[in-house]
Parts: sequence; structure tokens; C-alpha cells
Amino acid sequence: MGKILIQPRARRPRCEILFTPSPFDLLARRVRGRFWGLVVVSDSRVARLHGRTLISRLAAARMPHVLFAFQPGDRSKTRRTKERLEDAMVRAGAARDWAVVALGGGVTGDLAGFAAGTYMRGIPWFNIPTTLLAMVDASLGGKTSVNTPAGKNLVGLFHQPEAVLVHAGFLRSLPRPRWLDGTSEIIKHAAVLDRTLFEVLERALPLHASTSSRLLDRIIERSVRIKARIVTADEREQGRRSLLNFGHTIGHGLERAAGYRISHGRAVALGMVVEARISTLTGRLPPADCARLVRLVQRAGFSLPRRPLPAGAVLEALRVDKKKRSGSVRFVLLRRIGSAALSRGACTHEVDPALVRRALVEWPLRGGA
Ligand SMILES: NC(=O)c1ccc[n+]([C@@H]2O[C@H](COP(=O)([O-])OP(=O)(O)OC[C@H]3O[C@@H](n4cnc5c(N)ncnc54)[C@H](O)[C@@H]3O)[C@@H](O)[C@H]2O)c1
Ligand SMILES: [Zn+2]
Repeated sequence: MGKILIQPRARRPRCEILFTPSPFDLLARRVRGRFWGLVVVSDSRVARLHGRTLISRLAAARMPHVLFAFQPGDRSKTRRTKERLEDAMVRAGAARDWAVVALGGGVTGDLAGFAAGTYMRGIPWFNIPTTLLAMVDASLGGKTSVNTPAGKNLVGLFHQPEAVLVHAGFLRSLPRPRWLDGTSEIIKHAAVLDRTLFEVLERALPLHASTSSRLLDRIIERSVRIKARIVTADEREQGRRSLLNFGHTIGHGLERAAGYRISHGRAVALGMVVEARISTLTGRLPPADCARLVRLVQRAGFSLPRRPLPAGAVLEALRVDKKKRSGSVRFVLLRRIGSAALSRGACTHEVDPALVRRALVEWPLRGGA
């Protein structure tokens, strides 16, 4: 069983990331004798698929518990659901000697972690991610939140889970589109920070078709390590966290332009292609490396649209973004596969909007670059 530590600042609580073939047994061992009871939070699909096993394991360990299940989907990540969860915790008699267990994807982790962070001014929580995206991205870094009508993830707090228990076996029941969401973030980690992982992915994708569970474990662990390293960095290096935005500036623009009817994974995949192309147009990334990224995105299972991207709508979305962020939209750019371009120590770059437009309208890419 591997182990990684996230400990952002010396005095802050640390979070252990544990890779384990039996997450429920491990959890039961960790909580027995330490907590009076557990609140297990899952969406109803995950509760049906995996929650029952956890519940019977807790019952066998004579660990008092309640299960709170909610409708699957990002639309449930609201203040209203959090309030219902809190009411259920009060009814169950949960107190400061209880802990919360999130079993599910990023929605469950964000919601359960946020509730744990504010219930009685904060009680401990454990995260057991069941989607690839939650394993390699959402469960790491301690960010928790809910959406409001005015914006996604608008209300929340940093509350590190005591431990994240990673078990790739949960992914056997994951539908293909959800595999793609996680794959996008893994490609992002590789493109910006890990050339070796990129090369592994060039042989291993698409992940949902992977026949080797050992290879999948290795890819997940390597990707987790990259995000853990970035979010563990001390304050002086905080700018490095923005490296995780590669593909996301254009990606968010595409999501907004499509009225969020495009999956996050696909938006980020296309966003990475456009941002790699911007890296090439600004003379930073060799065209051959840009072409490699385009091939990897396709190999992951993303089809590239044949028609031009909605350049006008994306640029408009970037303009709105720019206003919100007091005047600048910045891009993470590559200098080669596995390495981001830096300018005077900064990880992000301002780019002439005319160039951004060009990268968008010169779609579809021929030969990748
Ligand atoms: N906190 C962070 O740092 C962070 C980072 C990235 C994303 N996020 C958040 O994560 C959320 C997206 O995460 P997600 O894609 O995991 O969404 P999700 O939690 O809604 O899960 C996606 C779907 O997969 C189903 N599912 C989950 N595990 C399954 C399994 N093992 N088998 C079959 N089906 C399963 C769920 O029922 C759901 O329908 C967004 O709300 C996003 O804002 C947070
Ligand atoms: Zn993302």
C-alpha cells in the first residue's frame, strides 16, 4: 500500500492519501475506537453500487453510522442539499466525536467535506473517491464547496480530509464518459509536469479499455503524486498551483459558450489542444510536441470537432472572466511535453487576444499543429 502526504503548512492538519485494495476495511480500522459514529454521504447511485458494502462492513465492525444519500449529479451540489445533510446529522445525534465519510465522486466529496468543515465548527472527514476525476483531482487539496445560482463552487472552505482512500477497483462500474473526465486531468498533469507519465499514457490510453489493473494503479498513483506535490507546495510556490489550470482557461470558455452542455473533461481536452496551439503560435512549443498532445487527446477517446470552435462566444466568455479577475486572463503555456513555459518565474502568461482568436478559428487542426 502506497502513501503520500499533503501538509500545506507546518501547523495545518495533514492529509494522508492511501492506496489500498480494501478501503472499507482500512476505514473501519482507522475509525474504530476513535469516533463515536460516522455519517456516510453518497449519491444514490454510488450508495446502491458500493455504499451497501461499506454499511455492512461498518455494521460488522459495530461502528454506529447513518447513511445520507442524495440525487446524483452536480445539480445536487447546493446549499439546500448541504442543509438537508446537516439536518440529518443533527437527527442522528452527530457531535464533535463523529466523522463524515464521503463515498462517491467530486460532487459527494465537495458537499460532504464542506458540511464536515462547518458542522459544529468543523469535524473530521474521510474521502473515498469512486470516480477517476475524484481520485486524481477533486479529492486532493482540501477544497470543498457548493454551487449557487450565481456561480459554481461559489461558497465553500478549505478543509483537508484526514485521509483519502484510493481504490481503482471502484472504477469497474464507471460509465465511459466519466472515465474521460478523469483522463483529461491526468493528461493535463502529464503535459505540464511529467513527460514520463505522458509517454506511459501514449501507450496506455484509452484508460477505460485498459486490461492491466496494475498499469491503471500506477497511472493513478503517479497523477495523484503530481497534484499532491503542487498543493503541498509552501506559500512561496503558491503560483505553481495555477499550473493545474492548463486547458482550463479555454475549457471554461467552451463550457460557458455551450451553456454547460459539454462535459468538463471534453472542454478541458479541447482547451488543452487550443492552449498547446497558442504555445506553438507564440514560439514556445515545438509544433511536433503540439501534434503529440493532439494525438494523445484523440487516443484518450475524444473526437475533435470537424467544424470551427465557437470562437466569438469563447472570446466573449474570456472577456467576462477578465472583468471578474480585475483585468487579466492568463494562460498556462507549454515549452515542451512535460514542462510548462515560465516567464520571469511566473507560471502564467498574458496572450494577445488576436492570437487566441487565431488558435480558435484555425480549427480544425491539420496534422495537429
Ligand atoms: N474540490 C476540488 O478541488 C475539485 C476539483 C475538481 C472538480 N471538483 C468538483 O467535482 C465535481 C465533478 O466530479 P465527478 O465527475 O466525480 O462528479 P460526480 O460526483 O457527480 O460523479 C459523476 C457520476 O458518476 C457516478 N459515479 C460515481 N462513482 C461511480 C462508480 N464507481 N460507478 C458508477 N458510477 C459512479 C455518480 O453517481 C455521478 O452520476 C464537480 O462538482 C466539480 O466542481 C472539485
Ligand atoms: Zn478540471
